[in-house]
Amino acid sequence: MNNPTVWLNGELIALADAKISVLDRGFLFGDGIYEVVPVYHGKPFRLAQHLDRLERSLAEIRIANPYTRAEWEALFARLSATCAADPHSVYVQVTRGVAPRQHTFPKDITPTVFGIATPLTLPSREKVEQGVGAVTHEDRRWLNCHIKSTSLLGNVLMAQYAADHEVQETIQFRDGLLTEASSSNVWVIKHGAMAAPQRDNRILEGIRYGALESFAQECGIAFEERAVSEAEVRDADELLITSATKEVLAVVTLDGKPVGDGKPGPVFRALYAAYQRAKEAL
Ligand code: PDD
Repeated sequence: MNNPTVWLNGELIALADAKISVLDRGFLFGDGIYEVVPVYHGKPFRLAQHLDRLERSLAEIRIANPYTRAEWEALFARLSATCAADPHSVYVQVTRGVAPRQHTFPKDITPTVFGIATPLTLPSREKVEQGVGAVTHEDRRWLNCHIKSTSLLGNVLMAQYAADHEVQETIQFRDGLLTEASSSNVWVIKHGAMAAPQRDNRILEGIRYGALESFAQECGIAFEERAVSEAEVRDADELLITSATKEVLAVVTLDGKPVGDGKPGPVFRALYAAYQRAKEAL
């Protein structure tokens, strides 16, 4: 893994040889979008949904999609084949490309496409069985959080805020309502029923959002997509976070106080098991 093979602008090359211009707008402006797809036993999990979101993100920031759907599928397969680790994840990023620095979109610019497959370290058994901690913070990010943009400074600061407090995640609130965590969606459970914020511009619609929705249905757990207040988060029986790399984890402390009885609960266990079954069924 010291010098993995990566994709850069149409070819598979060694990471050490993959170079881009310092005038790339991804570097200068964070002018790009990305995806992270988990791959189990060589099979991508919900690739179609990831590619749908990739297409939506590109359209939102008006970058012409450089590849057809079939080309994207082939690229993910080729990148996946470069990584022997199971599981692994495939990261791809598209930036607007290279041009002299000016804020507006340059004409006739070619997008930069980068991709890499890396071993995926899933949360430890201890985190799965005992849960993780989270802290809270006001959501100070922009209002286009539905775009999976590489402009992640707001998220980076919140991830570091969690690390500084020696917990897994920072759960954010905007105007007294739950949005999401620094790199995960958040789920609130009360009396066995689950709620999560609406899929709008205030959150990234995780690919695990749709997945958990269908696992909840499969397990007979009531689910509602609606505004969730900060008070509800603080009064939850269970809190869950989801992402490509964390799968689903129970949050058992919030700002140092126990969530519910301070242990992963029955809704977590049911959804975690459903997630593992879906992976095995790939
Ligand atoms: N992040 N919200 C934010 C802000 C995220 O960055 C992520 C994922 C999610 C969950 O989305 P998904 O279920 O598709 O992973 C929600 C990825 C893993 C990352 O930035 O590495």
